[in-house]
Amino acid sequence: MPVNYRFIMEYSYLKLYYLHMLAKKIIFYNQKGGVGKTTATLNLGSALAELGYKVLIIDFDAQRNLTAAISGNTNLPNIYEALIGKVDIKNTIQPTLIRQLYLIPGSIDLAGLSMELVDENKREFFLKKALEQVEGEFEYILVDCPPSLGLETMNALVWCEYVIVPLQCEYLAMEGLNLIMRTISNVKKKLNKEIKVLGILFTMYSKRAKLNQEVVEDISEFFPDLVFKTIIPRSIRLAEAPSHGLPINYYDKSNKGTRAFDELAKEVVNRV
Ligand SMILES: Nc1ncnc2c1ncn2[C@@H]1O[C@H](COP(=O)(O)OP(=O)(O)OP(=O)(O)O)[C@@H](O)[C@H]1O
Ligand SMILES: [Mg+2]
Repeated sequence: MPVNYRFIMEYSYLKLYYLHMLAKKIIFYNQKGGVGKTTATLNLGSALAELGYKVLIIDFDAQRNLTAAISGNTNLPNIYEALIGKVDIKNTIQPTLIRQLYLIPGSIDLAGLSMELVDENKREFFLKKALEQVEGEFEYILVDCPPSLGLETMNALVWCEYVIVPLQCEYLAMEGLNLIMRTISNVKKKLNKEIKVLGILFTMYSKRAKLNQEVVEDISEFFPDLVFKTIIPRSIRLAEAPSHGLPINYYDKSNKGTRAFDELAKEVVNRV
């Protein structure tokens, strides 16, 4: 084979390999509090790891709920320290008890991130810049956003490729969703043309609650291509698992929440 053909083939192969190793970049975003963002980040992360993918989950919330749910240690190098340049991002990556699942811990200092970066240019691009160095090492990176549209969330929106919107099936869900869609569309126009909604994820669903059913029907009718088929049921075991430091698939293998996150992981893999 002529040398230049061989070079082109090897180059294409390398490029394919490199693209394969570039992580799928997903954030969990809803500025409303308590809708299941952290629960979904942890349990989807663990379900993807169970499918054999190498997954990094990042706690980007000053409440540190994700960190608390999987790691008891509060003194680890964290995402805040990486963003302000105190530690190398590579040194913040922690293994967890779960094979193939890694964590970058959060910090209560994230609450002061906008003050810390007040004199910096392009403050919304700090996460993107920091994560560039580790994106080749994982197949999925999932970021748990705080319940606000502050600087952390803007950084996550600028960095990501995909947004999963966890939604509780309750009164005013549609209004909240419209606001989220508008924010994403503005970000797409001005800061990140790659961003897309991967799916709307109904959470804490109870078959017996008529309002839950109605909200699912209304939103599915309005956004038929966006809603995930998988609906996360309300389950006490899902709420208990974090206090044992475990994702649901390790805490209660036969729980309906485990089955739901397994199904969700397969849907996500098919959609990205
Ligand atoms: N499917 C579920 N069934 C029962 N409880 C759930 C379920 N999902 C989440 N919870 C509980 O509801 C509460 C809120 O969930 P979670 O912390 O995941 O929401 P969040 O959107 O991350 O909240 P915040 O906006 O404060 O970060 C937690 O106590 C969690 O354990
Ligand atoms: Mg949370």
